Amino acid sequence: MDQASRLRDMVGNGKGVEKKLMAANATGNVHQDGSGVRVISVTSGKGGVGKTNVVANLALALTQADKKVLILDADLGLGNMDVLLGLNHHYNIQHVLTGEKSLEEIIIEAPGGFQVLPAASGIQELTELDQSQRLFLLDELDILQDRFDVLLIDTGAGISANVMYFNFAAMEKVVVVTNEPASLTDAYALIKVLTTKYQQKTFKILINQARNAAEADRIFRQLSKVVDKFLGSPSIDYLGWIPYDEQIPKAVRQQQAVLAVYPDTAASKSFVRVAESLLSSVNHLDFEGDIKFFWKKLVDSWQTDYGN
Ligand SMILES: Nc1ncnc2c1ncn2[C@@H]1O[C@H](COP(=O)(O)OP(=O)(O)O)[C@@H](O)[C@H]1O
Ligand SMILES: [Mg+2]
Repeated sequence: MDQASRLRDMVGNGKGVEKKLMAANATGNVHQDGSGVRVISVTSGKGGVGKTNVVANLALALTQADKKVLILDADLGLGNMDVLLGLNHHYNIQHVLTGEKSLEEIIIEAPGGFQVLPAASGIQELTELDQSQRLFLLDELDILQDRFDVLLIDTGAGISANVMYFNFAAMEKVVVVTNEPASLTDAYALIKVLTTKYQQKTFKILINQARNAAEADRIFRQLSKVVDKFLGSPSIDYLGWIPYDEQIPKAVRQQQAVLAVYPDTAASKSFVRVAESLLSSVNHLDFEGDIKFFWKKLVDSWQTDYGN
């Protein structure tokens, strides 16, 4: 059974959403250049490995490569994207659900030209949507569909249900790993759950805070070995590595992306390389390649677990 029909099976109710989604796909969400929106989650088993920095800097690097980027800050814990980027905002997705604001009105522009959708403080509410709210949000998402090329999601760490759902729903998953043993074992645990419980098959691995290329390579091979040995089926691809770089904490203290303030430092150059590598990797344009489908998968997974 293909993924779409499996999903339909899984959902059971939600026919209205399904119909809408089909209609949306039939009328085409594909950009003029023929590409869909890439929905990429950035995740990790262990916290503090650098996800928020990765998301912010990749967003900037992709923007500099002429892509229109939206960040979805979905870290339920301390969503610190706004702190990291020095953003000031009063509204989040909760205000969309109560009807006070439209989705478009809560999106904020970050320095550097990409956009941020503050969602972290409304995630819990999102898990409790009724059918009409879901349809409403799908409508709102129509607007985003044509405005962006890439949706980058900062998921928060761990294997809690919410983190899993965002990863399950995203078309591409970037797992951030560092040299710490706990980061490696937790990354393995995350991949294991996503593989066995959520049928995910491909993961892109990004090594952060490495001392050099050889060390990054070694960490990747270690992870690859255990995944091959114990999980067998998923494929993990090496996306690249970011060096440990003192300029990152320095930029964090200035509430800016390192690529914005220290574009020539080693970490910044690596972020640009990783962004290039993402762009050159094949975009499997299929049913999953759009924001609405991402959103539908996400709310369906919530509904399946939390629901009735
Ligand atoms: N490549 C790096 N070199 C040096 N410090 C880093 C690097 N990446 C992240 N950090 C530091 O690690 C800390 C955690 O980063 P953060 O992006 O908030 O992680 P997460 O979102 O995974 O919790 C930050 O204080 C940041 O300065
Ligand atoms: Mg974070």
